[in-house]
Amino acid sequence: MGEMRFDGQVAIVTGAGGGLGKEYARLLALRGAKVLVNDLGGNFAGVGADGSYAEAAAAEICEQGGEAAANTLSVANSANANAIVQDALDRWGRVDILVNNAGIVSAAGTLDTVTDEQWENDMAVSASGTFYMCRAVWKLMNEQQNYGRIVNIASGSWFGMGSAVPYPAAKGAVWAMTRALASSSRATGRNVTTNVIMPIAGSRMTELMGPDIHGLMIRDFPPRAVAPVVAMLAHADAPCNGELFSVGGGGYTRVFAGVTRGYRATDKDWTMETAREQFDNVMDTDGFFIPEGSMDESSLFTSDVPWDAFRAFIQ
Ligand code: NAI
Repeated sequence: MGEMRFDGQVAIVTGAGGGLGKEYARLLALRGAKVLVNDLGGNFAGVGADGSYAEAAAAEICEQGGEAAANTLSVANSANANAIVQDALDRWGRVDILVNNAGIVSAAGTLDTVTDEQWENDMAVSASGTFYMCRAVWKLMNEQQNYGRIVNIASGSWFGMGSAVPYPAAKGAVWAMTRALASSSRATGRNVTTNVIMPIAGSRMTELMGPDIHGLMIRDFPPRAVAPVVAMLAHADAPCNGELFSVGGGGYTRVFAGVTRGYRATDKDWTMETAREQFDNVMDTDGFFIPEGSMDESSLFTSDVPWDAFRAFIQ
């Protein structure tokens, strides 16, 4: 395979002032993309703002031979998201790639100690920020360009992360949003893909885990080792739409939600005792199925319900 490049393309990478985002922006730029390096520049919990963060990252990428410019707006605001996209359009006339990397961890501790503000802040950056940015490029990519590559950044935390709730919830929303957007462009036949990764990397975010773990993370999971998968998914040859990958330390795996063969009662007036008796069968993952959308999942309960008509309805 020849070198995968982005010549003539324009990318926006949010939260790209440092950490993982800067590595995504750097790789895209060094492979030929013009990159808008967006970053508000607060701390990992979302407190503060410092425009020099994005400026320094963009300057560093330019010094290395790439083409990049800084944007310091917060993604956690609908009007700002539109302005970030407009900034890229004003500079370079199109947006081919959007990487929604900006994220914060505003809340630590158990649910009873989390404040409304912490919940809202986590949701505002990861969930709403991703939503606003995707919406801001959607018409452009789908209707004007018939081309776009969106890479969202979720987190393995939605599998469960100790007692934490807001951050995993916000990242779970990013995964679900990715499925929804992929379904949407599939329905319209546009050449727009939306995929999502769960990175694993040492960064200022892993400082939360203490110096020992943080040091090992920096050594074994450098941020640059995540970038190849993000860039591959941002490329015209991206081989998938709506997929989730865990990426870190120089490798990646597919992560998916599947449905087991389970138990199908023929008796609609079945009992809770039967549900309990069938539990082990329901948990057995042999022969599982990965639905492309909710109708595929519903239609597993086969009957003569006209599922195609349902599918047409929800498009
Ligand atoms: P980081 O804290 O270095 O990067 C996040 C960046 O987002 C920062 O530069 C920050 O200034 C920026 N940002 C925060 N709020 C913003 C806003 N409202 N508008 C624009 N920019 C904003 O941490 P890291 O580790 O590089 O994280 C990058 C992404 O990867 C985040 O979404 C994070 O949740 C996710 N992630 C990281 C993991 C890791 O192992 N480091 C694990 C799972 C997910």
